[in-house]
Amino acid sequence: MKVESEKIRKCGPIGVFDSGYGGLTIFDKVRKLMPQYDYFYLGDNARTPYGSRSFDVVYEFTRQSVRKLYEMGCPLVVLACNTASAKALRTIQQVDIPQWDPAFRVLGVIRPTVEHVGLITRSRHVGLLGTMGTIQSESYPIEFAKLFPDVVVTGEACPMWVPLVENSEYASDGADYFVKKYTDTLLSRDPEIDTIVLGCTHYPLLLPKIEKYVPYTINVVSQGDIVAQSLADYLRRHTELEASLSKNATCSFFTTESEEKFRRSASVFLKEEVDVKHIRLEE
Ligand code: DGL
Repeated sequence: MKVESEKIRKCGPIGVFDSGYGGLTIFDKVRKLMPQYDYFYLGDNARTPYGSRSFDVVYEFTRQSVRKLYEMGCPLVVLACNTASAKALRTIQQVDIPQWDPAFRVLGVIRPTVEHVGLITRSRHVGLLGTMGTIQSESYPIEFAKLFPDVVVTGEACPMWVPLVENSEYASDGADYFVKKYTDTLLSRDPEIDTIVLGCTHYPLLLPKIEKYVPYTINVVSQGDIVAQSLADYLRRHTELEASLSKNATCSFFTTESEEKFRRSASVFLKEEVDVKHIRLEE
């Protein structure tokens, strides 16, 4: 189905998408850096986590979510989710956008992260923590090989971390076991690692515990500021797209799960009350 392109030429908000709450760690930094824009945040909380799902399923869920944000008037959507960036971004950019509207833009979080980390690692040994989907996709090593072929990337999947965050257990004593387990395994696989990428937007919530189990000489990198800076730079270079973004400094939140649940959890992530609307995605 082709969407009328007049819709996209009207000014609209920046869409930010994640499978759940994790993308709020990106959204928070983006909004702080560029408060002038309007934002729509969509969490597909009813179908989270994406990390253990197949390529086809993550692509289909992400496509539906991006499509929804497009129909709601966003000229630009940021996939604030590594799993969706790894498994769906390229196909959406290459197959879907040309059919929907070539002026529409979707950006991911992997490339800006690699661009940043490749410049800061001194040992040239980088550790990557992410979902099973992100690690198995090899998207990070592939991107590093293109931009910084001398960097050695070791990835470790942390399948228990997203459930800990989604269920608000990230600060509990029980979380320590799983934080130590995955960080120990990663560092034993490559003791030369000097930079660890938190390659899942949920993981910054676990940062205090991660720092407890990782030597202080290792730089643990969250993506929020990196993605925000990269987006600001992108908008400086794409003036036509920038002009199509509405600027009333508003934020609206949407979830595929219950509004009450989202309101409760999102206010913990953002440290403020949010107003949220339930939406249905096309199956
Ligand atoms: N926050 C997502 C990411 O950055 C993944 C969460 C999930 O497994 O749904 O990969």
